[in-house]
Amino acid sequence: MALFTAPLLLGAVVVAALVWFVGRLRSADAAVPGPILNLFSSLPLKYHEFCGNRTQYIHQLHRRYGSAVRLAPGEVAFASLPALKEIYLSHGSGYDKTSFYHLFRQYGTPTMFSTLDKQTHSQRRRILADRYANSHVLKADALNGIRDRAKTFAIAAGQSPNQIMDVYIALHSYAFDGVTHHLFHPFGSNALEDRMDEAVMREVSFDNSLARRLLEYYFPSGVPAKIADRLGLLPPARSIPRAKQIVLDAVDTTLKSASEGKEGPHAADFTLLSRLQDPALGLTRMQMAAECMDHMAAGIETTGDVLCWLMWQLSLPSCHRIQDRLYAELRDNPDPAKYDSLPYLHAVLKEGLRMFPSIPMSLPRHVPSGGRVIDGTWLPEGTIVSCQPYTMHRFEEDIFPQPDEFSPDRWLGTSLEQDAEMNRRFFAFSNGGRGCLGKHLAMAEMKLVLREVYRQYKTVLADTGGKPADMSMSDQIISSRPKDQTCKLKFIPRRLKDSV
Ligand code: HEM
Ligand SMILES: *[C@@H]1O[C@H](CO)[C@@H](O)[C@H](O)[C@H]1NC(C)=O
Repeated sequence: MALFTAPLLLGAVVVAALVWFVGRLRSADAAVPGPILNLFSSLPLKYHEFCGNRTQYIHQLHRRYGSAVRLAPGEVAFASLPALKEIYLSHGSGYDKTSFYHLFRQYGTPTMFSTLDKQTHSQRRRILADRYANSHVLKADALNGIRDRAKTFAIAAGQSPNQIMDVYIALHSYAFDGVTHHLFHPFGSNALEDRMDEAVMREVSFDNSLARRLLEYYFPSGVPAKIADRLGLLPPARSIPRAKQIVLDAVDTTLKSASEGKEGPHAADFTLLSRLQDPALGLTRMQMAAECMDHMAAGIETTGDVLCWLMWQLSLPSCHRIQDRLYAELRDNPDPAKYDSLPYLHAVLKEGLRMFPSIPMSLPRHVPSGGRVIDGTWLPEGTIVSCQPYTMHRFEEDIFPQPDEFSPDRWLGTSLEQDAEMNRRFFAFSNGGRGCLGKHLAMAEMKLVLREVYRQYKTVLADTGGKPADMSMSDQIISSRPKDQTCKLKFIPRRLKDSV
């Protein structure tokens, strides 16, 4: 009997394998160019994810196979404008997010960012959006807090020993202080001047949980993570108790004052928290905290990393000419209120965001029911599709000539048509109904600090003896950061009479 069933079983396994194999060959993925192995297995993609090299891997695949490329069974990446429009802009907010975004829940509570479906998302977004409108960001109370911190940054740079400062740390502190000002002033942080607050920033930014969170996503049962833990293969789990406490304290203090009447300390009128606590919205304490925490996380590393890469780039000897031109513009336009209308500053920042989008990686979405044609390729419902900012900003070389060259000039003086083509592909803040909500706040923060620094100083790479820090991209779950997480620059004061 046993002898009889063994071959039968074996036969069944062989047949099942064949059916699977033929199924793969006849799948919609098979019609998309890409490495043959990736048609059958997600291991090559996962390997690069675990190495923190997903963005570069996908970029190389695009260069080799073209603007549509198969990444893994059921997952396809695109690098074209029609695909970007279809995936992220069709019907306002494009396709729904995938369960990947569950990794971004806060306090175990879903937030706007981690909401997958359109309806729930747009309800939440509608009530929060006005807090991030440009007109709101530019209100005096909101903007002055950011401006003060930009000044503090420039002073700190000048007062550092030998005028050498680790801008990776200081810019993350600046971003932390800026975003918490907007979220819940007067309970915002002061990490630029206060070591305790800086420690909270480090807790959030020096996260090493990439491998653990990927395991959590791919194996929700938690078994592989437990095994890896037993073997001592994983760094400790992400834990941000102090950051969580800062947010909860702000929420609780504000709620307490509200329940006792108007007198006590509470979040200022322009803040996100003052909107969230509106009783008409009926949000729970935890929902308010989770939303604040989410925006805090969205606003620290993104802003800090772009600024760090950009200031590093500007400090390279080849870019001193660019710094001089920026300085001339800032010197000739001393009115602080004009920071937003300076063409060269704008071009420099735009080029920084093009070359170093701090979220450079694919933003995964699901093909909706019934399947869709994306840039000429039909894909069935449920296929994971995406574009990545890093590649959108470099792939089409007729739009972005010499894509690896840092050239603010490409954003100036070209034809209106060329300008429009570049802007359509500009994807650093994503686009559409799920694009970055904090874009105007981020732009204001970045321009204000660049203005303070480059009207007063010239920056150069600090000669600290050892080997220079590795500034290449180290991919995290969705953002990327300079690999060594340090960047020491020397701040050389410009002539005194100019630094009004
Ligand atoms: C240079 C700085 C920044 C960059 C490059 C950036 C980039 C992005 C990108 C690419 C997305 C879409 C992500 C996705 O679809 O997976 C996003 C979403 C978001 N960002 Fe930003 N961001 C920046 C700064 C900020 C700041 C300062 C805030 C402040 C609160 C913020 C708040 C948000 C929120 C709330 C979302 C989710 C929007 C939604 O789901 O509707 N971001 N950001
Ligand atoms: C990242 O991937 C690219 C493209 O596949 C490869 O050339 C590069 O060596 C990889 N880098 C690392 C650090 O693994």
